[in-house]
Amino acid sequence: NKRFVVLGIETSCDDTGVAIVDSSGRILGETRVGQEAIHSKWGGVVPALARDAHDEAITRCIDGCLKQANLSVSQLDAIAVTMGPGLELCLRVGFESGRNVAASYHLPFVSIHHLEAHCLMARLFFEDITFPFLNVLVSGGHCQLILCKGVGEFLVLGGTLDDAMGEAYDKVARLLGLASGGGGGALVEQLAKDGNADAFHLPVPMSKTKDMNFSFAGLKTAVSLLVRDLGGTEILKECPQLRSDVAASFQKVCYLHLHEKTQRALEWCIENEKNTKYLVLSGGVARNESIRSCCQQLAEKFRLQFAVAPPEWCTDNGVMTAWAGIERLRLGIQDDMKEIDVQARWP
Ligand code: KG4
Ligand code: ZN
Repeated sequence: NKRFVVLGIETSCDDTGVAIVDSSGRILGETRVGQEAIHSKWGGVVPALARDAHDEAITRCIDGCLKQANLSVSQLDAIAVTMGPGLELCLRVGFESGRNVAASYHLPFVSIHHLEAHCLMARLFFEDITFPFLNVLVSGGHCQLILCKGVGEFLVLGGTLDDAMGEAYDKVARLLGLASGGGGGALVEQLAKDGNADAFHLPVPMSKTKDMNFSFAGLKTAVSLLVRDLGGTEILKECPQLRSDVAASFQKVCYLHLHEKTQRALEWCIENEKNTKYLVLSGGVARNESIRSCCQQLAEKFRLQFAVAPPEWCTDNGVMTAWAGIERLRLGIQDDMKEIDVQARWP
């Protein structure tokens, strides 16, 4: 059980995240550079611009992290890098820098699956989360109910048939004139606080199907038709109450949809995985208070413990990559850098 120290690198989308974490879960250094300003005028993440921004930031992030931790590369025990899924151009920036650092000091290299890193993150903060646990992963790119049986052992109980919940939040943010890039979810949540969630009736997706899947495309369309009927984005900007009402009505449907499908997954766990003791919420949308309380209430109802990382570590970051590396290294898992490559698609 010797203590070891891992540098983690995350560049799968539009956040350059680097962190140094030790095997007891202490965060020794962390740096992050977002790209909100770069992509906002394009209405989404532009891969080539994202790559350039990662390229520009990565060395600074790694050096900054080492400095915070007061360590030199030779004092690290391993390098962990997010190798997918994500934008290939972006993943490659992280891989190449990580590989260079690892090669220069002959350090072990660990390849990390981005979603596994989201799933395992809560175990850094809650030491008693044992396998199996049910993970609700809601982010900008993913919306899944995952039974986590162990490191590298996951059973996906349900996923989204079209868009992720975070994507729907971002789209609604744009429809309400809040933000044109990604990351509008927090702004929608803020507006919803002053709104009446019963002001508009929006349909709860897939409430008739008995599976554990999600769909947000129809909800997105319903909100866009509602905004049109109310006079459009520009008119709405001048009617703060109406705008808040739309945000709150939308958020309520997200809550109900998540509640229904997560409940079904919990029922499945009670039937099939009796040792499940924890409901874990992860991904960027886990920052949302209404989504947190949805999962918290369900956990109570099913007499499970509830866990979610502190908000700042729900969105993509280097700590989750470093921590997933620690989880893997503890089991003796590492990878040969010469034999692997990034994987934009990685089930
Ligand atoms: O996990 P993440 O950083 O990136 C992906 O892997 O996708 O998640 C980002 C997503 C964005 O869609 C953002 O709008 C959403 O998380 N998000 C929120 C909130 N904070 C971030 N959605 C709703 N409410 C929030 N407070
Ligand atoms: Zn993510």
